[in-house]
Amino acid sequence: MSKNRRTGPAVVILAAGQGKRMKSDLPKVVFDLAGWPLIRHVIEAVKPLKAARTIAVTGHGRKLVEKAIEGAGVKGAGVETVLQREQKGTGHAVKCAEKALKGFDGDVMVLLGDVPLMRPALLRSLLTAHRRRKAAATILTTLLHDPTGYGRILRDEKGEVRAIREEKDASPAERSVREINSGIMVFRSDLLWPALRRLRADNAQGEYYLTDVPGFLIERGEKVLGLEAPDPDDVSGINCLADLADLAWVARQRILEEHMERGVRVVDPSSVYVDRGVKIGAGTTIFPFTVITGDVVIGKGCEVGPFSHLRTGTRLKDGAQVGNFVETKKSVVGKGTKAKHLTYLGDAVIGEKTNIGCGTITANYDGVNKHRTTIGDRVHVGSGTVFVAPVTVGDDSTTGAGAIVPSGRDVPKGETVVGVPARILPSKKPGRKKR
Ligand code: UD1
Ligand code: CA
Repeated sequence: MSKNRRTGPAVVILAAGQGKRMKSDLPKVVFDLAGWPLIRHVIEAVKPLKAARTIAVTGHGRKLVEKAIEGAGVKGAGVETVLQREQKGTGHAVKCAEKALKGFDGDVMVLLGDVPLMRPALLRSLLTAHRRRKAAATILTTLLHDPTGYGRILRDEKGEVRAIREEKDASPAERSVREINSGIMVFRSDLLWPALRRLRADNAQGEYYLTDVPGFLIERGEKVLGLEAPDPDDVSGINCLADLADLAWVARQRILEEHMERGVRVVDPSSVYVDRGVKIGAGTTIFPFTVITGDVVIGKGCEVGPFSHLRTGTRLKDGAQVGNFVETKKSVVGKGTKAKHLTYLGDAVIGEKTNIGCGTITANYDGVNKHRTTIGDRVHVGSGTVFVAPVTVGDDSTTGAGAIVPSGRDVPKGETVVGVPARILPSKKPGRKKR
């Protein structure tokens, strides 16, 4: 056994297909699921495997797919890409990685870019089973109530895998088989490449099927295993928008469960949406009808919702509260600061213990550029204040209800501004001049 079999496998992720059944020009693997493109979910599942190489096969919409791969923050972890110029089937796609893997003699694990909810532990069990039983190939399978659309696992009387049959090539009896091919498989590389060379596109779809490889290996007397995944969601594929919605639902439940395990109270998981990668501190409560998207970090002991929308770049410091119909984007809400009603905070940095009154708006966009609003500590923002950015509001200051604070007209520390445009309220102290 080579040392490569002991170190990580080479991972090949198939992501060159168009996804015709999605009825969209967007390549399928870049569709968003819980805030990440599908392919990023796959890459994330692979990371803990410490693969010797990770190669994504791209083709259709290549630029967009490569951008999604870069977005997965794996540049350093080194996901390479190889081109499949024409999409001639999954077997042909794997073959496109052969040259890049020249000299690699370990196991090759194939994953599909449209099977996103794979978990690292399952991939590890697949690899372990494959190595322990010294198989030539091991196929990750699962049992489905409705196997429509999937390749079926054909077994003999003894329960040994005999072949995979694609639905379009299957007889009615074969179609009644409920054990399906997840598309995720591990191969000994010395057996994989020669078998791929033998593929013929003599099937209903005129494609070079990766799923014909196990049959070839069995004919040669090699051992092929089928390992059944206990949770079908882990290996479900996305072929159409209805599949995408189904798996988005599953992803959402999983994400919320993880947060709850870590001490985040989610009052009503059925109405809360939290993207993958969002961080939430223990002791925080998420009230119903809340949507948290993108790169968001929420501290400990915060209150969010009901009806809040926290968008990418939002940071809530410990004990912050955002409530009804409050939208935040690229904004920092300081410790103990509250924005409880009808507010938009965009490109804003707000200090501690500030109260953002009902109906406050940071007008961050001038039609061309986005600008910052900086609000200090212990500021009392009156209802209906509009901050026209860029503007800075000093600590301990106050704005009156309905004040419009023009851009560049910073509010000095401790002062009160009122009106449209907002002016400093004359102080009772003698000697203070009006602005
Ligand atoms: C495939 C399997 C099927 C399995 C199912 C699991 C084959 C022939 N069939 O069917 O047995 O049950 O997945 O979800 O393998 N791709 C390429 N290049 C190509 C063709 C496909 O990169 O030339 C990529 C696609 O981008 C996609 C993945 O491979 O990410 C699967 O392709 P798809 O056409 O969706 O295969 P299925 O019909 O779902
Ligand atoms: Ca598929």
